[in-house]
Amino acid sequence: MRLDHVGIAVADLEAAQDRWAQLGYRPKAQGEVSTQGVRVAMLAAPGGGPQLELLAPTGPDTPVGRFLAKRGEGLHHLAFAVPDVAKALADLRSAGARLVDEAPRPGFGGHLVAFVHPSAFGGVLVELVQE
Ligand code: CO
Repeated sequence: MRLDHVGIAVADLEAAQDRWAQLGYRPKAQGEVSTQGVRVAMLAAPGGGPQLELLAPTGPDTPVGRFLAKRGEGLHHLAFAVPDVAKALADLRSAGARLVDEAPRPGFGGHLVAFVHPSAFGGVLVELVQE
């Protein structure tokens, strides 16, 4: 397991990309996950560290839109790459973790992903991404 990316909620995707370019992060992929009402920009780290995933809502009544209204811009989730999301979910469920997604679903870039409720990790929303 490794840290794949850090998800950051932003109001303005373009302004946020300019902000992180100051630290050497470069646009790698951009798109929309329509089922989640979110526009995504994945930024590659200078030197190949974990990526940054900028998340901008397409409207207020979306998961990231509600997050912004409640907490403002900032850290949204940590995403870990795992070989098998379904198995990782099953392991966490048997350990008593509360899950956001009961089964893996398609995320940005066509990867299988699943979210684990922040209550399972001390207030940190955790995403599992299939390698
Ligand atoms: Co993510």
